[in-house]
Amino acid sequence: MPPSDLLTPVSSSSPEPEPWSEFDFSPIVQFLRNQIGISLEPHRMGLLQARLRSRLQARAYPSFTRFYERVLKADPTGPGMQLLIDLSTVNHTAFFREPGHFTFMAEQLAPFFKDLSSGPVRIWSAGCSTGQEPYSMAMVLAETILNLSPLRVEIWATDLSLEVVKAAARAIYVTRDVAGVSPARLRRFFLRGRGPRDGSFRVVPEVRDTVKFRHLDLRNANWPLPNDFHVIFCRNVSIYFAEEERMNLLNRLATYLREGGWLAMGNGEILPGVPNSLRKIAPSIYRKES
Ligand SMILES: C[S@@+](CC[C@H](N)C(=O)[O-])C[C@H]1O[C@@H](n2cnc3c(N)ncnc32)[C@H](O)[C@@H]1O
Repeated sequence: MPPSDLLTPVSSSSPEPEPWSEFDFSPIVQFLRNQIGISLEPHRMGLLQARLRSRLQARAYPSFTRFYERVLKADPTGPGMQLLIDLSTVNHTAFFREPGHFTFMAEQLAPFFKDLSSGPVRIWSAGCSTGQEPYSMAMVLAETILNLSPLRVEIWATDLSLEVVKAAARAIYVTRDVAGVSPARLRRFFLRGRGPRDGSFRVVPEVRDTVKFRHLDLRNANWPLPNDFHVIFCRNVSIYFAEEERMNLLNRLATYLREGGWLAMGNGEILPGVPNSLRKIAPSIYRKES
C-alpha cells in the first residue's frame, strides 16, 4: 500500500461490507456463538452461510448485515434466532440408527419393563430430530409389552429446532426414510399413503400416542420434564457442545435418571469424562448406580 493511502482519513461511519461476503456474514457467526452457543466447524459454517443466503435472498434481503441489523439485533430471541437454529443444526437421523442400542433395549430393558407394576416406563429422547429415534424406541417396546399405551409407556422427545419437532409430531415419512425398516415392522407400524399420498408412510397411532414432543434447548437452565426417567437417549447431540458444556450436560442428564436407569450416548461421541454416578455397562451405554 502506498504510504499516502495510510494517511487517508477513515470515515466515521464504516462502510457496509460487500453483501454475502465473509465479512458481511461475521455478525451472524458472533450471534451464533454468543447468543445461541453454537460454534460450527468450518464446513458446517459454509453450509449455513449458503442456506441462509438463499433464504434471505428469497425474502429480498440485500445482505447478511441487513438481516442481522433488522431482525437479530432488533429481537435477539425472536423468529430470526429460530431460523438460524433450524438452518445450522444437523438433523441427520434414521429409524433404528446405531442398532446396538435398540437390540439392548429389546433384549435387556423391554423384558424388565414388561414386569414393572408401578407407574409408566419413562423414556427421554433428548435431541430427537425428526422423530425416528423416539418412534423406534416405541416400536421396540410395542414388540414386547402387550397393549402399549401412554399409561404404560411415556416417551418424551425434545429438540432445539422447532421445525424438526413439528415434523416429528406429524410422523409422516417418505420411502427413503423407511428404507432400513424391516418388512415386518413396516407392515405393523406404518400406514401406507394411497392415491396422492402414495410413497408416504405414517407411524401408527399405537406408537405415535406414546410419544410427547417438546421444543427444548438442552442448554436452558430449566428442563420442564420429569426427573425420574428409566432411559435417556442423548445421541449425536453433544457434538454441538464445547467440552465443558458437554460435561455439564452429562451431569444434568444423570440427575434426570432414576437410580438404576440407563443413558445411551452416540457411538462416535468422545466424552470428556463420565459423572461418578454413572457406570459404563456396554459401548456408549451407562447405568446410574443405585
Ligand atoms: C444429528 S441429530 C441426532 C438425532 C438422534 N438423536 C439420532 O442420533 O439419530 C442432532 C439433533 O440434536 C439437536 N440439538 C442440537 N443442539 C441441541 C440443544 N442444545 N438442545 C436440544 N437439541 C439440540 C439438533 O437440532 C438435531 O436435531
